Amino acid sequence: MLQVKQLDKRFGHHYALLGVSLDIKDGEIHALVGENGAGKSTLIKILTGIYSSDGGNILLHDKKIEITEPKVARKIGIQVVHQDRQLINSFTGYENLFLGLTYPTYKVGFKIRWKAMKQKAEQLKTNLGISLDLGKLAEHMTPSEKTMLEIMRAAMLDCRLLILDEPTAALNDEESELLFDLINKLVAKGTSILYVSHRMNEILRLSHRVTVMRNGKVAGTYFTKDMSKEKLVQLMTDQTTAANKHIKRSVNSSKLDVLQLEGVSSFDQKVQDVSLHVKQGEIVGIFGLAGSGRTELLETIYGTRKIRNGKLVIKGRNITSFSPKKSLSRGVILIPEDRRADGLILNMSVRENMTLSTLPKFSSIFRMKKKKEQAVVHTWMGKLQVKAVSQEQPITELSGGNQQKVVFAKALLSDPILFLCDEPTQAVDVMTREEIHRLLIEQAKKDAAVLLVSSDVQEVLDIADRIYVLHEGKTVAEFPNKAVTSEQILQVCYNQRKQSDVINE
Ligand SMILES: Nc1ncnc2c1ncn2[C@@H]1O[C@H](COP(=O)(O)OP(=O)(O)OP(=O)(O)O)[C@@H](O)[C@H]1O
Ligand SMILES: [Mg+2]
Repeated sequence: MLQVKQLDKRFGHHYALLGVSLDIKDGEIHALVGENGAGKSTLIKILTGIYSSDGGNILLHDKKIEITEPKVARKIGIQVVHQDRQLINSFTGYENLFLGLTYPTYKVGFKIRWKAMKQKAEQLKTNLGISLDLGKLAEHMTPSEKTMLEIMRAAMLDCRLLILDEPTAALNDEESELLFDLINKLVAKGTSILYVSHRMNEILRLSHRVTVMRNGKVAGTYFTKDMSKEKLVQLMTDQTTAANKHIKRSVNSSKLDVLQLEGVSSFDQKVQDVSLHVKQGEIVGIFGLAGSGRTELLETIYGTRKIRNGKLVIKGRNITSFSPKKSLSRGVILIPEDRRADGLILNMSVRENMTLSTLPKFSSIFRMKKKKEQAVVHTWMGKLQVKAVSQEQPITELSGGNQQKVVFAKALLSDPILFLCDEPTQAVDVMTREEIHRLLIEQAKKDAAVLLVSSDVQEVLDIADRIYVLHEGKTVAEFPNKAVTSEQILQVCYNQRKQSDVINE
């Protein structure tokens, strides 16, 4: 249905896309993979009228088309869920859903017919099998609810091609399943899908064909059934990678606790009566389904969420006053889940963002030690393979995954004693994911403590020494990461949920 021919896109002297060709068939799920900065999102932005190309053609059913602005893309049936969610936080689900859509049938003069619009939304929800309270403000929605809302927004219009840019980055397995069901429903109705993800298992399971991008070029398009994870990674990186499996470390039991919580509850009760501890050199995983209070727990420890009662001890000191600033001065750092909103200052450069919380290190009374700062930034950009033109490039110009790497480097730079990581490898490519795991393990070896939240049970199993399971804000189980399996952990979550369903009925 859609053909892309020899597409080029240049930013300054740098080619983000060079001679990119690909075709998407009717009713096909076409996956797009590549390392961070390979050009996936740029291609999508051209297909959806956000960027214009510097060369090449786009054909829809063999007819050349010019997608000059997002409105044009929508009109010809190309809908998109972008990598950075595009919702207005202070608007409800309904309001976000109809944002920017012109619905003459729902307007009488200047008055908008909300009732008719709501009916249409509810009907779509039923058709797609989505359960979501659309009356809620976007800021109160979980990442997965936001994704579902954006998909609904795409499906409101005629949707011949749905483009999904890392839709599962913030979703756990169960939520991803819901999304896959939804995708299959849309495909059954004749919609084609262009699907971007760093999760190779999803690609292998879901797609019919897969196009691999490398450094702004297409490395090839393949039938998914002929592919394996190893082959894909090899094509993406043009190198064979030794499977960097984690070696289980044993933490010395005589080590001190860096963090202790006793009966901690947050003011809003999102965290209830949590007791846990993390030792020096230990990586402790927190796993729970969406809404279990994982992020909220980290926020309570860090001081962005108010604590109601309970005891919190850091390195033997009873903490009584909380704020992010105080946490930082105690050596506690949070890598937030929503990095674009909470972790980065968007009008600053890569260098400024990276050294933001460690500036005193680089300044004397009179002037910044610029050379030293630049050298440190250079080192970290190398370690994490941050793809940028220079240190001075504005952070907004980096690809999604590369922005995440900067947030991570910024945290490491502050030499923390306690790392609170919320989904640290979300949206980064396979290679960087392993590098981040390696760096976390290295921090632990240097006696830092790591508390890691991940919606990916495998990630927790890969690097944690010990695992707590969270349900409705409470810790409901604890496992040493020795013989425990992902099935066992998920079982605990589902059993808990069944029990609370019975109580609620
Ligand atoms: N507005 C911009 N200005 C300058 N350079 C840009 C801009 N947008 C993207 N780039 C560059 O284009 C290249 C491709 O970025 P793109 O966002 O398409 O990567 P991606 O494949 O989506 O990566 P990720 O997996 O990290 O999301 C990167 O080197 C990026 O820095
Ligand atoms: Mg991207």
